[in-house]
Amino acid sequence: MVQKRTSLFDQAVDSLDENDAAAELAELAALIALNDRLYYEKDEPALTDAEYDALRLRNNAIEARFPELIRSDSPSQKVGTEPAAGFKKVNHRVPMLSLDNAFTREDIHGWIDGLRNFLRELKDSAVVLEFACEPKIDGLSCSLVYKAGKLVSGATRGSGTVGEDITANVRTIKDIPATLKGDGWPDVLEVRGEIYMTDEGFLQLNAEQEKAGGKVFANPRNAAAGSTRQLDPAISARRPLRFYAYAWGDVSASFAATQWEAREKFKDWGFHLNEPSRLVQVIDTRLDDLFAYYDAIESERSGLGFSIDGVVLKVNRLDWQSRLGFVSRSPRWAIAWKFPPERAQTTIEAIECQVGRSGKITPVAHLAPISVGGVLVQRATLHNADEIERKDICIGDTVIIQRAGDVIPQVVSVVPERRSGKCKPYRFPAECPVCGSLLIRKEGEANTYCSGGLVCKAQAVERIKHFSSRDAFDIEGLGEKNIELFHGKGLIRTPPDIFTLEARDGQVLPPLREWEGWGDLSAAKLFEAIERARTIGLDRFIYSLGIRQIGQATARLLARHYLTLAHWRECMEHAQDRDSAAYADLLSINGLGTSMVDDILAFIAEPHNREVLDALTGSAKDRPALVTVTDFERPLASSPIAGKTVVFTGSLETMSRNEAKAQAEALGANVAGSVSAKTDFVIVGPGAGSKEKKARELGLNVMTEQQWLAFIVAAE
Ligand code: IVH
Repeated sequence: MVQKRTSLFDQAVDSLDENDAAAELAELAALIALNDRLYYEKDEPALTDAEYDALRLRNNAIEARFPELIRSDSPSQKVGTEPAAGFKKVNHRVPMLSLDNAFTREDIHGWIDGLRNFLRELKDSAVVLEFACEPKIDGLSCSLVYKAGKLVSGATRGSGTVGEDITANVRTIKDIPATLKGDGWPDVLEVRGEIYMTDEGFLQLNAEQEKAGGKVFANPRNAAAGSTRQLDPAISARRPLRFYAYAWGDVSASFAATQWEAREKFKDWGFHLNEPSRLVQVIDTRLDDLFAYYDAIESERSGLGFSIDGVVLKVNRLDWQSRLGFVSRSPRWAIAWKFPPERAQTTIEAIECQVGRSGKITPVAHLAPISVGGVLVQRATLHNADEIERKDICIGDTVIIQRAGDVIPQVVSVVPERRSGKCKPYRFPAECPVCGSLLIRKEGEANTYCSGGLVCKAQAVERIKHFSSRDAFDIEGLGEKNIELFHGKGLIRTPPDIFTLEARDGQVLPPLREWEGWGDLSAAKLFEAIERARTIGLDRFIYSLGIRQIGQATARLLARHYLTLAHWRECMEHAQDRDSAAYADLLSINGLGTSMVDDILAFIAEPHNREVLDALTGSAKDRPALVTVTDFERPLASSPIAGKTVVFTGSLETMSRNEAKAQAEALGANVAGSVSAKTDFVIVGPGAGSKEKKARELGLNVMTEQQWLAFIVAAE
């Protein structure tokens, strides 16, 4: 059977005529169905995973070219409710967060000092702090929900609050129990962990993929993620995927008092754990045992059989974990202590300048390909002109490069003794390599920018890509390839054009469904995805604008502060005047510094950007809004302190200032540093001075720490 396929397989999809294609699709449908039966029902696969994948890839490629020939029994139509439209979305009841990173022993000292400052009872350094220590695996984080001990859902982390439904895929992973073993599990138990691939599984998969002409993965992490996020779980089932449990989310009842105990429970219930792990005690500032664990894992790293990029240290007591809480997107009670980056030597073959979303020019070195820690590296960032000069980098130089985790590899230094007479100094360009506009470097700044704005294709495309990306408008099907396509044809030049694409379809160019590689189905799917994206929350909207330095966390701070789009815009207009109250108010937001504020105001002041905002939200005359921006929803809108401004002054007795602040923020309050007429509550402790006086003069609500605690307990 496989033999028979090979002859047809040789014919390029482009050269098939309709008759050949129809015949081949019929054959592929039958062949794939037969192999599914052999695999699932008889447990006797006749093909290797890669051969099987190659059949499906071939099927998809032919269908993409001849959408009208898609058969009702086609493998692409069989699985899932929305076959090619992507995964269903899943809301995480408890957000899936990330971890903060540490790189040095000093960082770990700093982190532990922070813990001791945050939790008052740990101020006494004789109090023992225990840490559950585990390796940090490079894979795809995954949430598994069990109800009454049965697996009911599996999801990726996604944006942290909304992930993708991969239930069917996780059911095929042998390390993931379909039914929990033992007893004592809560009725609802969300187990979190990492889907990963062993080095052996990864190498074997790549060898098979290569032989069959399929996709070769860059590293085990990509292979694990790519293999899990398959719309067809039959493909995931054939990949060597593994799972480790290391955390939990939504649970109907607590099941442990410590992290270590939780790990033991996971093991009893049938999960694998991250090993080698260790429970380590820290007394005073003696962190030797933590350092010993880190060193031991680093030295065992290459023999573990799976790739790790550091260790994770977690405060063992769960009551302390819950009081320590979270900051931005990471818990205070855990840290990822990364291993130093891996290094290698290679040569620079060329230097090319790339243009980013904001027009920033980044020189990138093209390298003679080299493997660094098992990953093929061909490019490294050179950051900016100063960096090239400082490191004295020439084309043709031998250089030391390093890569750490996902970051783009960096050039550490030149190896001067290997410089030959053939090396050529690099001249930074004066014009944009994409649009030819003049490059500008402001006095005192390290970066160079293209002055072309949206005229520059690179900037426009990058900006639209960001706009439609998952954490912004999340428009499925509008990725890099299609954005470039629509931009190239002049159909999408700015973000608002996305939302008029369907209305303009067929007006100047033939309708999308008639374009090469498109069909009724794919065109309709794209328009549907755009339609679905028309309503967006204020935080995502602000993030989608791609304002320099304004990432998700800052966009959320802004949304949380201003609540509605209209209010935000109005305040941003007023804040253009640096003497205004609006400017002071913007600057008073915790987490925003002057440099971010400058970038926000510069963005709003730029006519191009105002036009985009007006067009999207209908603020321009006679133009209807293209999108609906919903007001920011406070997590605890019902709490009486949600949205209130609180000031702490004087010393606190039961908590540190940071813990008090975190607790108030968790209840939806804004914590400010100074008292004004806008302050709602002022909590005073011993030693409070002028702030208390001012609060009383203004007639504000002044409370002692005890009164405040009683008040928020009632509020909770
Ligand atoms: S605990 C609140 N433990 O690393 C976060 N995460 O860089 C709880 N990871 O998102 C995560 N090994 O996907 C934890 N032993 C380990 C881990 C681990 C790998 C992943 C996880 C997390 C990411 C952060």
